[in-house]
Amino acid sequence: MTDKRIPEMKEYLRENLSEKRFVHSLNVADAAKRLAEINGADADRAYLSGLLHDICKELPPKEQLELVRRSEFAVSEAELNAPKTHHAIAGAVFVKEKYGITDPDVLSPIRWHTVGKGGMNIYEKILYMADLISDERDYPDCERIRSITYGDIERGLYEAFKWMMTENIAKFRIIPKSTFDAYNEYTALMQKRQSEL
Ligand SMILES: [Fe+2]
Ligand SMILES: [Fe+2]
Repeated sequence: MTDKRIPEMKEYLRENLSEKRFVHSLNVADAAKRLAEINGADADRAYLSGLLHDICKELPPKEQLELVRRSEFAVSEAELNAPKTHHAIAGAVFVKEKYGITDPDVLSPIRWHTVGKGGMNIYEKILYMADLISDERDYPDCERIRSITYGDIERGLYEAFKWMMTENIAKFRIIPKSTFDAYNEYTALMQKRQSEL
């Protein structure tokens, strides 16, 4: 069911995010909805997680960390030491407290949208990819990953995690174990598919 507070949520996002990130949030919500429709998932849930996924991105780092400390989700050492990942964990806590959202298929995708994890369910997969292929994204290779993902979300995930691993290595970053797990999972899936050809 469509959440009646969506106009109110959009207003909050417009006031608390930069114009660029507000547009990104709307586009991720639209991409998540489209991916849900393609993959037989509930479009309203996917839309909501897309809309709210970066809600804490522009909160002061200290406030993000306070929210992270209240999270019921497990938080790895690598994430604790990577402030750029905090807004995802913080976001899941924030939307639960502010809007009373308890649906795990909305909260968990928000929590995992930066680092990913092994064994993601369809809503977690959808948000992870929607964040990378939303309309305004224009990094090199975006067009290719976007078209792969709309045709085959798992292949999109493989490409995305492959890119994420190389990016992390190139930028001298510690890679969270959950990102490794996701990379290995989709690589194994692609290997399996190849062996079945
Ligand atoms: Fe984010
Ligand atoms: Fe995002």
